[in-house]
Amino acid sequence: MNFYKIAESLSELTLSPNGLAEVEVNGKSICIALHNNTLHACAAKCPHAGAAMAQGYVDGLGNIVCPLHRYKFSLQNGRNTTGEGYFLKSYQVEFRPDGVFVGFEEHKLFKWQK
Ligand code: FES
Repeated sequence: MNFYKIAESLSELTLSPNGLAEVEVNGKSICIALHNNTLHACAAKCPHAGAAMAQGYVDGLGNIVCPLHRYKFSLQNGRNTTGEGYFLKSYQVEFRPDGVFVGFEEHKLFKWQK
């Protein structure tokens, strides 16, 4: 897994009042979500019809709620908790002494393209 820095610290991140933001990292847009003092990262677009997840909100159970059709996804594992059968990609977040990092799996199939 490769980790990329998204900020020097949590306070450097500009989150919406809902605790969400879309950030660019490693050439990719992702959504970050602060819930119960834990920072999560997931795909920027909803797997249902592509709505911007950062425009939604996080419910009391820690599900990110899509702004368009209100499907819910666990911030822990991306599971579609309202049962429509979709899956939201989630990413590992690490706080390190030198910043906030998000991890991406290496796609071995395309490794030769680097
Ligand atoms: S686009 Fe997200 S639930 Fe439909």
